Amino acid sequence: MAPDALELVFPRRNEKCTIYFSDQLISRVPLELFSGVSSVAIVSDDIVSKLYSKQLEERLSETAKTHMIVIRHGERNKNLTTVSSVANQMSDHGLDRKSALIALGGGVVGDLAGFVASIFKRGIKYFQFPTTLLAQVDSSIGGKCAVDTKWGKNQLGSFYQPEGIFIDESVLTSLPKKELINGLGEIMKSSIIADPTMFGELESLPAKYFEMQDLRKFVRRTCEIKASIVEKDETEINLRKTLNYGHTLGHAIESASRYRLSHGKSVILGMICEAWIAYELGILEKNDFERQTDLLLKTKNHFRITPRISKKEVLAFALLDKKNTSGVIQMSLPEKIGKMHAGKNELFTSLVSKDLVARSLEKLN
Ligand code: GLY
Repeated sequence: MAPDALELVFPRRNEKCTIYFSDQLISRVPLELFSGVSSVAIVSDDIVSKLYSKQLEERLSETAKTHMIVIRHGERNKNLTTVSSVANQMSDHGLDRKSALIALGGGVVGDLAGFVASIFKRGIKYFQFPTTLLAQVDSSIGGKCAVDTKWGKNQLGSFYQPEGIFIDESVLTSLPKKELINGLGEIMKSSIIADPTMFGELESLPAKYFEMQDLRKFVRRTCEIKASIVEKDETEINLRKTLNYGHTLGHAIESASRYRLSHGKSVILGMICEAWIAYELGILEKNDFERQTDLLLKTKNHFRITPRISKKEVLAFALLDKKNTSGVIQMSLPEKIGKMHAGKNELFTSLVSKDLVARSLEKLN
């Protein structure tokens, strides 16, 4: 049986990307996607490659020469040194403009390998094979590729669409529970920004459910939501900003925790604060604010906010964001469950005072 597929079209450069969903997709990657491809580089990290690279190599070797390139895991390796090392290995293996690349791993591998694909010989065909829940529902979709520099996260990058994204639903069953929470935050976020029906379904589930690996129904829906948003606004001029809900304060919380709190947990906390801000500004009604907070708090058994996070520091990090000037912070806020506030300018951002942000951080207690 062929995998289910969802096709995305990006008018800016007339690019197409297909998202494939299936169990055991790793052994069933559609080979016709590689017809005319001279060779394939599979880029993965030292943890993921041990789990999945053999199966993928076996599948692809039915159609092309494959080369495995392994990087060290972790955000600290998402940099230009690793880009250069991957590109050198691709060149050593004789990859050319007709070659393809597959990013096999979580967000770090996807961001870095996508960036390499966008600049190797001025750009080659590439595919995303995300192996974490967060990468499946968020970072693999939409073509954002980047590496970190000494002056910040994702500071060198490009928008470069993969030709295909392989969502292997069986991968989730082997994920550690602590990985699930990262993607769960994004699933909840998607329901708040665009899907009141999914919100209702999530709301009706007992908290215990969110510790289970079988979230496939929500994974598909979250991918569809993200796909429809990035198709309409590939380069984040307006609508794509709604995907940043909870991220303005989430990133600041993550930085202030010195990355002890994961991205997913930080974004959940970010949404709790930003929902309160929307309520205080009269954008979000009390009932929707409370329902949303109750849903987000269903994840609270997974983590506890560490008292070592200084609220002052969170505020300082939020003000450092390059979008913000003169003590005013920009964020994308919900208007009701399933709808984000477009504002008069239709840019999906609201200006929030430093004082209101400081007060919202008290919610973390
Ligand atoms: N992670 C947000 C975006 O892709 O725009």
